[in-house]
Amino acid sequence: MYNFDFGREQSLAQEKIQEAQARPTFSLDRYFYQSEFIYQREIQQILLRSWIYAGHISELANAGDFLTFEIGTDSILVVRDRENNIHALANTCRHRGARICLEQRGTCRTLTCPYHAWVYGLDGTLIKARDMGEDFDHSDLDLRKLKCCLIEGLIFINCDSDAADLQSASDEILPALAPYQLNRAKVAARKSYPIQANWKLTLENYLECYHCAPSHKTYSKVHTFSEDSERVDKLNQRMKQRAKTELGFGESFTAPVRKQYSEEPAFGCTVSHLRYALFEGYKTGSVDGQACAPLMGDFRGYDGGAGDFQLGPVSALLNYPDYCVVYRFLPLAIQESEIEVVWLVKDDAMEGVDYEVDRLTAMWDITTKEDEMIILRNQQGINATMYRPGPRSTVFEQLNINFTKWYLKALEIM
Ligand code: FES
Ligand SMILES: [Fe+2]
Repeated sequence: MYNFDFGREQSLAQEKIQEAQARPTFSLDRYFYQSEFIYQREIQQILLRSWIYAGHISELANAGDFLTFEIGTDSILVVRDRENNIHALANTCRHRGARICLEQRGTCRTLTCPYHAWVYGLDGTLIKARDMGEDFDHSDLDLRKLKCCLIEGLIFINCDSDAADLQSASDEILPALAPYQLNRAKVAARKSYPIQANWKLTLENYLECYHCAPSHKTYSKVHTFSEDSERVDKLNQRMKQRAKTELGFGESFTAPVRKQYSEEPAFGCTVSHLRYALFEGYKTGSVDGQACAPLMGDFRGYDGGAGDFQLGPVSALLNYPDYCVVYRFLPLAIQESEIEVVWLVKDDAMEGVDYEVDRLTAMWDITTKEDEMIILRNQQGINATMYRPGPRSTVFEQLNINFTKWYLKALEIM
């Protein structure tokens, strides 16, 4: 499929990586958004070695419930078996490789390949291969098992069998995350935003709020994140006080944790937490700032804050006392990506009674559509022959600089 002169591609990549490492505060050369060699390397060295959000436990409530999603050309299958274990598997048949589960969500009794009907158990074990002859050896033909872990009801997968443990890496953010009781939540809405742009542009856009004031009017009316001033400091202090006195949460609920990218505890295990204030009078991340769903978990009121989390390098959470949003940024091709956004509410909240989907999703649907446009224009500008890497803000884009360092190191050719 790819017509590489491997040696030539490798030395060009080496040269470009060194060039970029020499000025890590600058945006990347166009080469990193256009090279097939680099893209394949990113998939192998970064995405298939990172912990990635797959779905929420409520989506796999019963035995046989499954979900699938794609990382580049790979399809990942996550399924609940009859013993209540969750398995992450490569969704590719061990006979001749056909994709087994074709839908994004579904229920099945067994995993049966639609091509020649090989049958696998819900844990990926090969049970039956028709007419393969008497001497056929079933062993060693199970679906490839991937690593899988559950954090507060969120399912994460990692395609690297040697991957470090995300569970222990996430311990530090648990005091801030646990009060939402996400394991007792449900998916109220899930939307996919396909973008004709490289995955790094979709992620990098999320990592900074330098663009928030000019690009996100609705967001900026409610959230203080894009401001860096004395006024915001005061709002943050008041929010922390309310979390303590009105909600009864300890200091660790608002304590920041920053172990992202080049600071992450182990490769692919980015974890972070930052709680920041909303503007005075705003309770939650809705367009008018007023409650849009029942309070989650241990919350007994509103502290006027929002929790910003990262779990794994390409998945993030934005939590309000009444709802939480999960973001995932993945490549489908060099300049084709998907942003998936999931809205979680308390599990017994009833649609139409306790919340309206349109009102619940408005803030982040509007903001993500705005992001779609700016990311697309970013890719178009980078594709221009006259594009040259530019300097990034060390005030607002430090996380992007951090990401670039980590990214370049992971690509390095040993
Ligand atoms: S490819 Fe799956 S049974 Fe043949
Ligand atoms: Fe944005």
